[in-house]
Amino acid sequence: AGELLSDRRGRHVRDLRISVTDRCNFRCIYCMPREVFGDDHAFLPRRELLSFEEILRVARLFVAHGVRKIRITGGEPLLRKDIERLIGMLAKLDGVEITLTTNGVLLPRLAQRLKDAGLHRVTVSLDALDDALFRRMNDADYPVEKVLEGIEAARVAGLGPIKINMVVKRGTNDSDIEAMAGHFRHSGHILRFIEFMDVGASNGWKMDEVLPSREVIARIDRLFPLEAIDPNYAGEVAERWRYKDGGGEVGVISSVTQAFCSSCTRIRLSTEGKLYTCLFAHAGHDLRALLRQGADDATLDAAIAGVWQRREDRYSELRTAETAALRKIEMSYIGG
Ligand code: GTP
Ligand code: 5AD
Ligand code: SF4
Ligand code: SF4
Repeated sequence: AGELLSDRRGRHVRDLRISVTDRCNFRCIYCMPREVFGDDHAFLPRRELLSFEEILRVARLFVAHGVRKIRITGGEPLLRKDIERLIGMLAKLDGVEITLTTNGVLLPRLAQRLKDAGLHRVTVSLDALDDALFRRMNDADYPVEKVLEGIEAARVAGLGPIKINMVVKRGTNDSDIEAMAGHFRHSGHILRFIEFMDVGASNGWKMDEVLPSREVIARIDRLFPLEAIDPNYAGEVAERWRYKDGGGEVGVISSVTQAFCSSCTRIRLSTEGKLYTCLFAHAGHDLRALLRQGADDATLDAAIAGVWQRREDRYSELRTAETAALRKIEMSYIGG
């Protein structure tokens, strides 16, 4: 164990994204539409989920191969019982930043406990500022106010700088782009606009519902002049822009119009222990079977290394109307 891993395109593994539950209290129309994820939807039974100890074993091996950032995702990761215990376990790994992506509504209750456990930062999803529109987007009747309270709780707990993710669906919530920008300017938080993606097989994605990031930037720039700034690190997903008046920065994540596969250093561990080398993969590599057969670290490590070394994914560079219609793993099941 321990050497840096290269995939078939020369990319190293730097980020491990761990999904800890496939459940969510939201039903965002672009992620868990109610027609598919209804009240009778069968989520994974508890025994199917990786335990925290199993997750830690996998994470430790990845860290030995150069992973420097671990992101906890879901579904909604704060629905996983005792999630702060997992955070505490991962935070003991040397040299790794621990982050978490959440819809925010449980943060008033949990932010301080997460911070105390060793969480470094949070990213909060928020798709609209208009309350009626936000309720339509999350389709579970959560008000905007609940998310804003969550963001504030995270700030108070010291979980910043906080990133706010807005998925933009043309014709649905693009009307709120300027309002969101106006609200988060001068807040110390970093708002990022994400192009609507054809993840999963249930969100009915169409290219004409994607609003290209360059239009998002042009629209904000008209109100609040912007200038481009350099990435924080090589392979950063978001392109950064700064308000010329010192109001802070915004980002755009343009996986549809400007694919960033050539620098993709991410791997995903699903709720039930499968490794996915791409957000758009249709199959994962089962680690849980190995873990539960009592495989030793060397065996587990060889499996992990092999998965990365055989990787050649670059879905976003190859996307067409045809690929968009293919069956793929759901985002709510491997995290964003
Ligand atoms: P930080 O820079 O640490 O905040 O991490 P990040 O920029 O990776 O942010 P985050 O993990 O919140 O990713 C934001 C969103 O970008 C995700 O929720 C996805 O929608 C999208 N995204 C992230 N990684 C990928 C990827 O590998 N491929 C594609 N197509 N989209 C991605
Ligand atoms: N396209 C773009 N982003 C998405 N997310 C979920 N589904 C999609 C999609 N189809 C985002 C969420 C959250 C993150 C985990 O991924 O809004 O910010
Ligand atoms: Fe839940 Fe996030 Fe998916 Fe919305 S985008 S349904 S909050 S997992
Ligand atoms: Fe990485 Fe796949 Fe996203 Fe490309 S489409 S950036 S390979 S996860």
